[in-house]
Amino acid sequence: MANSPIIIASKVDYSVDVAGKPLNILRAVDLSVNPAEVVAIVGPSGSGKTSLLMLLAGLERASAGHIQVGGTDITKLDEDAMAVFRRNTLGIVFQSFHLIPSLTALDNVGLALEIARPDMKLSDVRKEAAAALDAVGLGKRLDHRPSALSGGEQQRVGLARALVTKPRLLLADEPTGNLDQKSGAVVVELMFNLARQNGTAVVMITHDAHLAERTDRRFTMEQGQLTETTGKH
Ligand SMILES: Nc1ncnc2c1ncn2[C@@H]1O[C@H](COP(=O)(O)OP(=O)(O)OP(=O)(O)O)[C@@H](O)[C@H]1O
Ligand SMILES: [Mg+2]
Repeated sequence: MANSPIIIASKVDYSVDVAGKPLNILRAVDLSVNPAEVVAIVGPSGSGKTSLLMLLAGLERASAGHIQVGGTDITKLDEDAMAVFRRNTLGIVFQSFHLIPSLTALDNVGLALEIARPDMKLSDVRKEAAAALDAVGLGKRLDHRPSALSGGEQQRVGLARALVTKPRLLLADEPTGNLDQKSGAVVVELMFNLARQNGTAVVMITHDAHLAERTDRRFTMEQGQLTETTGKH
C-alpha cells in the first residue's frame, strides 16, 4: 500500500449545468501521482485546472470516472465520509489565503488541527500549531492577526495550516498568485522542503514556468484535457 499512488484519477469527466445546458469542463482526465511526489499543473486560464483540484479535494463531484486518493475511491463517498477524508488526508492552499481575520496566526493554524484531531489536548494543539508556524519562519508572529501580516507571511500561515495535520497530499492552487516574486519564492521553497521532509505529495497549479520546472513532473491542462509534459518545452 505504501508505494501505491496517492492519486489515481481515471477517465474523469466534469460538466456543470449552465442555463439548462451541460458545459463540459474536464474530459477523460487521467492522473497518477506517487506518494511524496511533487507535480505541477500549468495551462491557460479557464482550461479547468482549479476544477480538477476541486474534484481531487472532494469539494466538487466528478460527472464520470473514478478518483482514488490514498486508496479510497472518493467518487463513492457520502458528504460525511468526504469531510472525514478531507480532514485526514488533505491539506489545501489557495491563491487567496482564506485565513480567518479575527483569529491570530496561532489560532488559525490551531483551529485546523483541532477540527482534524478533536481528541487532542488543547495544550498539544497549541504546541503543534506553534511548531508548524515556526517551521515556516513565523515563530515570532504567533499572535498577529492576518491584517498585521504581509501577503507572504499570510500565505506562510496558510501553508502551516495546511501542513499542521501532516497530510499525505497537499493541493495548492496558485499559492504564489497573490505574492510578489520574492515572497512567492520563499513560500514555494518552504512548501517543497516541508513536503519532502514529511513525505507529502504535492499537486500545485501554477502559471510560473520556473516554479513548474522545479517539480518532479509537469502536466498541461488545455480545454479540459490533461497531458503530461515533463521534459517538453
Ligand atoms: N460552477 C461552474 N459553473 C459554470 N462554469 C464553471 C463552473 N466552474 C468552472 N466553470 C468554467 O469552467 C472553466 C474552467 O474553470 P477553472 O476555474 O477550472 O479554470 P482554471 O484553469 O483554474 O483557470 P484560471 O487559470 O483562470 O484559474 C471556465 O471556463 C469556467 O468559467
Ligand atoms: Mg484556477
